[in-house]
Amino acid sequence: MSDLPLSLRHVVKRFPGTPPVTAVAGIDLDVTHGEILGLLGPNGAGKSTTIGIITTRVRPTEGAVTVFGVDAVADPATVKGTLGVVQQANTLDRRLTLWENLYYHCRYFGLGRGAARRRSDELLDRFRLADRRDALPPQISGGMAQRLQIARAVAHDPALLLLDEPTAGLDPQSRIALWELVTELRADGMTVLVSTHYMEEADALCDRVAIIDHGRILVVDTPDALKRDHGDGVVIDVGLTAPADAAVRAAVADVPGVRVVDDLPATGHDGTTQAGLRLSAASTEGTVGTLVAAVTPHATLRDLRVHETTLESVFIALTGRDLRE
Ligand SMILES: Nc1ncnc2c1ncn2[C@@H]1O[C@H](COP(=O)(O)OP(=O)(O)OP(=O)(O)O)[C@@H](O)[C@H]1O
Ligand SMILES: [Mg+2]
Repeated sequence: MSDLPLSLRHVVKRFPGTPPVTAVAGIDLDVTHGEILGLLGPNGAGKSTTIGIITTRVRPTEGAVTVFGVDAVADPATVKGTLGVVQQANTLDRRLTLWENLYYHCRYFGLGRGAARRRSDELLDRFRLADRRDALPPQISGGMAQRLQIARAVAHDPALLLLDEPTAGLDPQSRIALWELVTELRADGMTVLVSTHYMEEADALCDRVAIIDHGRILVVDTPDALKRDHGDGVVIDVGLTAPADAAVRAAVADVPGVRVVDDLPATGHDGTTQAGLRLSAASTEGTVGTLVAAVTPHATLRDLRVHETTLESVFIALTGRDLRE
């Protein structure tokens, strides 16, 4: 049996009904010590159900889940003690102050009165909520509410933190603040599994990313490896002062490693098109210089823009463009 922070083997969840829904269709996943693993998937992909199974809130139909080697189905009480959980929906107690939300959580996890009081004070300080300690959850901002949810989730010092879309609906400042906190927690030795829809966040902050769709993990790897293996290299937009003619198209198409994809897409709100070509290439290395030299005899270059493959394009390439529920 593995003593990894988290190990899922062939996990399946079918919800009964007409028709029944297979929310999780056979997931295998290992989360290693001290990593931040991102779970990325469209709406309805099965992220929350997977997290629910790990937190023991949802019972899997098939498969095995172990948290630090402990079977989550057979021994949910032990597993819950080692987990910190922030669910997708706000689960703060609206009738308790911020401080009380922490205090009663600490008490629930077995801390004595004095220890729970000290821990609640310390958490409010650390999560920059001390000046609102006596406020009620409906009186604070979304960013503060999420900080409080995370403070509560780590109050009993769990070794594995599960965050289900912690930054959804937050402004950029709050999202950055939240990720700084998560990164700090990881630096303290915590392992983190986080679901998110924000591709740039996952790219910048996760050690590995699992892309999940229709209840299955399609790929799991570092963001760089995903972009290398599933991205389409770089996109080079060649802006010209006049529409590209056959000669410039042919010259560009002859540059090694370059494919002419199309004319530049319509920009501007009025749908006007800029003159030029959109190319794709494996990388910019050795390409851009040759490209400029190839264009110059036939056309006047206005500008050149290079777009790196993003995790978003990997995500769309793997999960498609169909709208979900
Ligand atoms: N209790 C339930 N009963 C029936 N079907 C459910 C239940 N919970 C989830 N589902 C279905 O299972 C599928 C996966 O849902 P889940 O909430 O895990 O997706 P998600 O990836 O978290 O989506 P989102 O990004 O919208 O939060 C969906 O089709 C959903 O409608
Ligand atoms: Mg969800």
